[in-house]
Amino acid sequence: MAEVFDDRLDAQTEISSWAAARIMGRSLGLLTAHMTLFAAKCGLALISILPIATLPWLTKIVMDRVVGDPSMINDAVPYPPFMQPLLDLIEGRDPLSIMMIVLTVFLVMLIFVGLRTAETELVVPEGRDEATKSENALSAGYSRAGGLLGLVEYLINVRLNQRIGNDLRTRLFERLVRLDIPTLDDQRVGDSIYRVMYDATQVPAICLQLTLSPAVALLSAGLSLYLMNYSYGDVAPEVVWVAIGVIPLGFAITFPFSALARRLNQSSRAAGAATTNAIEENIDNIGAVQRLGGESRELERFTDRSEESFRRSRYVELVNATLIAAGIGVTTLGGVIGFVLITDQIIGETLSAGDFTALIGVFLQLAFVTVEIGLYWIRLQGNVAAVRRVLFMVDYASEADVTGTIDGIRERVDLEGVSYSYPDGRQALVDVDLSFAVGEMVAIVGPTGAGKTTLAYLLPGYLRPAIGSVRFDGADIASADPRELREFVTYVFQEHVLLSGTIEENLRLGRPDAPREAIEEALAIAGATALVESLPEGLQTLISGHGDTLSVGQQQRLSIARGLVRETPILVLDEPTAAFDPVSERELVGALSEVAKERLVIVIAHRLSTIRAADQIVFLEDGRVVETGTHDDLMAAAGRYREFVEMQLA
Ligand SMILES: Nc1ncnc2c1ncn2[C@@H]1O[C@H](COP(=O)(O)OP(=O)(O)OP(=O)(O)O)[C@@H](O)[C@H]1O
Ligand SMILES: [Mg+2]
Repeated sequence: MAEVFDDRLDAQTEISSWAAARIMGRSLGLLTAHMTLFAAKCGLALISILPIATLPWLTKIVMDRVVGDPSMINDAVPYPPFMQPLLDLIEGRDPLSIMMIVLTVFLVMLIFVGLRTAETELVVPEGRDEATKSENALSAGYSRAGGLLGLVEYLINVRLNQRIGNDLRTRLFERLVRLDIPTLDDQRVGDSIYRVMYDATQVPAICLQLTLSPAVALLSAGLSLYLMNYSYGDVAPEVVWVAIGVIPLGFAITFPFSALARRLNQSSRAAGAATTNAIEENIDNIGAVQRLGGESRELERFTDRSEESFRRSRYVELVNATLIAAGIGVTTLGGVIGFVLITDQIIGETLSAGDFTALIGVFLQLAFVTVEIGLYWIRLQGNVAAVRRVLFMVDYASEADVTGTIDGIRERVDLEGVSYSYPDGRQALVDVDLSFAVGEMVAIVGPTGAGKTTLAYLLPGYLRPAIGSVRFDGADIASADPRELREFVTYVFQEHVLLSGTIEENLRLGRPDAPREAIEEALAIAGATALVESLPEGLQTLISGHGDTLSVGQQQRLSIARGLVRETPILVLDEPTAAFDPVSERELVGALSEVAKERLVIVIAHRLSTIRAADQIVFLEDGRVVETGTHDDLMAAAGRYREFVEMQLA
């Protein structure tokens, strides 16, 4: 199966080392906004290292002074200085009370920091596919400490993760909803959901795996080595050297596989996103799929993607597990060498039995750290692959990025020599020259695919012409911020889109503070007053996302009313009356003509009754303006428009 499925935008997914480094850098940038939480987490993690460093020495005390023969105690091995208070305390006591003292110290440590030597994660039991893992990642906490301290560290971690994750996913969402229309057509909904919900959540892991996690791991390793060297540097220097040699191995093993890990993770995520796409597209078009009997084909498509997604995530797991196993193998080898060296010295009586447990304890800690560092690195590659998918969309250059201002519109809109081609090269408008006046109702007419919608999209800046200009009162809108532009232009879409919520919420979408009268007036013009009054809960009636508890004509009326509520100087209606009966249509057109006295109303229409009421008719064909004028002018001209009218009447 193809590496990137049918993704038309994000088709170049290879991540070079340099790109990976940049992604890591940008992820760290997100951390800077949460420095307080991060500092708290660091502080707690550091506190937790110190008690853990005492563990090997406590076991040495138990071995030498409680279990072992006191005459074997070897003073050539000094304890680290911080152990001195405890040594003073046990000096001269009998083995039982020494044991009690050590046990008390153990217990206190257990309650406050736990006795772990490596980072543990507290997470909800999770599936192994990327989506489930990613979702969990956001609410996962990692703590180095155990006990009470670990609990606090864990809670701080969850919060930190969620904040960083939330920052990024909010930014991504903001970008996605501002993408321009041709890009949105290509960017599939399921994939977008996957990016927001599952990819963005990997960014906190990058932040921690680049900073705190390795820092704490290395620090605790450094501390262990220092103490080991302090006590055993003279007696058993070769053991210290073996221990030092083990540390970089985890990283050395995983590093060569960085690019492979990134590639596998990327492809696993692409497959996950394709699965989400398949779900979204099918459920969204369920009616068509069922009616046309396409269920089994669609089921097969979904199954393929789902299986592919799981298969790819198994590759990721396989590589991770193999590398971890290799890391453990190599550190074990180091441990065995250390073991031989230590036991040699015990036999040679330079080291005691307590030294054995102390040294093996240090070795164990170092082995953990070694494997941990390798693991961080390899996981980091997976997170980089996820975050690349997010940043790709965040960075996606959008025509919506222009930020120029515009004064407004009082008199006229002019299109001068406008041509437009869609990204796939299809030319939808050719050399269009038009002039519309505020106070006029314009009808755009023409066969299917003539370019009517494309032409109307130019006004709110949904599309920007590559050639020619669109001018509001003479000012080119090419560099106008689309948000500002849309203050002046309302577009009622051909496919009416209502959102889940109450009718009132829908009506106020484009103007939340609209006064009551504006809403009532809009409903009246759109012929929806009676509809709203007939509903038991009136304006507060809840409608579903697709508005499908209403008839198509009713949805259309509400969409028109929603457009009217905004009271902008330009109102564009794309086939508003397609689902209207002739009487309602006549009423709407009459009301629109009234509205057009103060505004510019542009109606894309097929029906003669709507078209005839317009002050200016624009007849489009194959992207070209063929004729313009009033109904009477164009009938008299006996051109393409007249043919079109006569076809309708025939
Ligand atoms: N996103 C797109 N990418 C590529 N081509 C497109 C896109 N949208 C529209 N087109 C093409 O541009 C041309 C004009 O389309 P447009 O939607 O403007 O037609 P229309 O006149 O509104 O048709 P209808 O009456 O069916 O709504 C058509 O050939 C169409 O296939
Ligand atoms: Mg159209």
